[in-house]
Amino acid sequence: MRAAGAHPKTREISELILRAAEKARRESGEPEPELTRPVRWPVSCTVGPGLEGAIACESKVGYVNGSRGRLVYRGYDVFDLCAYSTFEEVSYLLLHGSLPTAGQLARFKSTLAQYRFLPHTMRHLMSFPVQEINAMAALRIGTSMMRQRLTWRDQEIARPAPETAIGTDEDSIPMETAPTGEEHAIYEFKRRRRAKPKGVPPTQDAASDIESCCHLIAGLATLTAGIARLRQDRLPIEPEGALGHAANFLYMMTGRRPTPEEERVMDVALILHADHGMNASTFASMVVASTLSDIYWAVGSGIAALTGPLHGGANEQVLRQLRKIGSPEAVPAWFKRARAKKRRIMGFGHRVYKTYDPRARVLGPLAKHLAGRRPGMKNLFRTATALERKVVSTLGAEKRIFPNVDFYSGLVYGAMGLPPEIFTPIFAVSRVSGWTARVLEYLQNNRIFRPRAMYVGKLDKSYVPIHRRGRNSASRRLKS
Ligand code: CMC
Repeated sequence: MRAAGAHPKTREISELILRAAEKARRESGEPEPELTRPVRWPVSCTVGPGLEGAIACESKVGYVNGSRGRLVYRGYDVFDLCAYSTFEEVSYLLLHGSLPTAGQLARFKSTLAQYRFLPHTMRHLMSFPVQEINAMAALRIGTSMMRQRLTWRDQEIARPAPETAIGTDEDSIPMETAPTGEEHAIYEFKRRRRAKPKGVPPTQDAASDIESCCHLIAGLATLTAGIARLRQDRLPIEPEGALGHAANFLYMMTGRRPTPEEERVMDVALILHADHGMNASTFASMVVASTLSDIYWAVGSGIAALTGPLHGGANEQVLRQLRKIGSPEAVPAWFKRARAKKRRIMGFGHRVYKTYDPRARVLGPLAKHLAGRRPGMKNLFRTATALERKVVSTLGAEKRIFPNVDFYSGLVYGAMGLPPEIFTPIFAVSRVSGWTARVLEYLQNNRIFRPRAMYVGKLDKSYVPIHRRGRNSASRRLKS
C-alpha cells in the first residue's frame, strides 16, 4: 500500500510511522483479544476506584488493548490510519463506521469546509477577554456559542417530551433491580420525531445528529485557531477554501500556508488523538448526552474534562516540566527529588496501557524528526529522551509506567512554533471526532448514566437548632 503524501518530506514521515508500527508489533507480539465480546447485561466485572474495570456500554467505535499497546478505530489499526489516511477520512470512519468512497469523502470535506466559517460565533467570542482567560475555557464558551447559532433546541418544539418518559423516582430503585415490564429502559425518553418549524434549515434539526457532529469537528479547529491568535493580540482569520482540515487549522493559527511537512505532521497528530475508548472526557460527553441534553453541551463537558492535568492538560505540563529540568544531565537529580516528594511525572502512566502507548511510539520519532527546526528544541528533546530512559528503567519495571501520548505531543507542537497553552485545545480539535461518534452511537440505545455511591457517613442524627450548635461543638472540643 502507498503511504500518504507524495512530497518527499511527507514520505519521510510516513516511513517513520511504518517503522514505529513495525517496532510496536515486534515488541508486543500478536494482540490478544480482551474486552471484545458482546455484553450480556447485567454484567459482572471487578470495579476499582475511579470506575477502573467497569464496563459502561458496548461500542464499535474504537478499541484499546492496554496490555499489548494496541489502538484500533472501527477495526483499523491506528498505525495504518496514520500512515495512509487523513483526519477527515478518520473522522468520517469514526462517525459512519466505514471508510468513505471518493465521492463520500468529497462531500464530507465540503460539509466541513462550509462549517469551518464561524463569523458570528467568532464575533461573539471576541467580546470576551480571550487573552485573559484559559484557552480551554474560551474554547468551551465558543462551543456553547456555536450551539446557539445552529440549534432550535431551546424552542419548545425541540424538547424531549417529559410525558413520554417512564416516570420513576430513580433513587427508589435498588441498583440490582433490572427494569421489568417495559420495552424501554427506565428514565428513557422516547425519541419521537416532531414536526420541524417552517423555515428551519436541515442543519438545525435535532442538535445531536451527523450535521451537528460535522459542525463541531470543523468548528473547534476554527475556534482554537482564533483563540490562539486572540491570545497573541492578533485578529482571527477566515479559513482558506482550498486547504484541508489540518492545513486550514495551521493556516488559521499562523496566517501562513503550512508546508506539506507541517500539514502532514498536524494531520498525523490529529489522527492519533481522535478516539481512545472510555477516557474521562469521552465518558463526560456521554454522561451529558445520556440525559438527552444535546451534543454541543456534551462536547462542552468533554472540553472541561480534557482540561485537567491528569488528562489532556498533561501535554502542556510536559513541556513546562522539561524546561524546568533544563538539560539531559539534570535528569537524575530532578527525578530523585520528584520521587522523594512523590510527585507524578507528567506524560507518563496510564489507566489502561501497562506498556508503551502506541501513540507515543509515533509521536516520539516525530518529535525527534522535528527537533532541529527550532532553537532550544533539540535540548528539550534530548532531555525528554533522558527522562524517558530514567522513568522506564525505574517506574516501568516497578509499576508498568511508560510514556503516554502527552509526553511527546508538546515537543511536536513546540517544534512547529505553536504556544504551549494551545496544546490541550489541539487535543480537543482532534478528540471531538471521538466524542461525537461515541455520543451518536450511545444515543442509538440510550440509557441515562446513573451509578451509585456507597454511603459511609452516619445515619439517624438528630437535628440540632442553630442556637445550640456552637455550645455543642464547644463542649465536644472541651471533651476531646
Ligand atoms: N508518575 C509517577 N508515578 C505514577 C505516575 C506518574 N506519572 N502515574 C502513576 N503513578 C503511580 C502512582 O503513584 C501509583 O503508585 P502507588 O501504587 O505506589 O500508589 C501507581 O502508579 C498507580 O497509579 P494510579 O494513580 O492508580 O493510576 P491511574 O490509573 O489512576 O492514573 C494517570 C492514570 C494517567 C492519571 C496517571 O498515570 C498520571 O497521573 N499520569 C501523569 C499525568 C499524565 O501524563 N496524564 C496523561 C494521561 S494519557 C492522555 C490522556 O488521558 O489525556
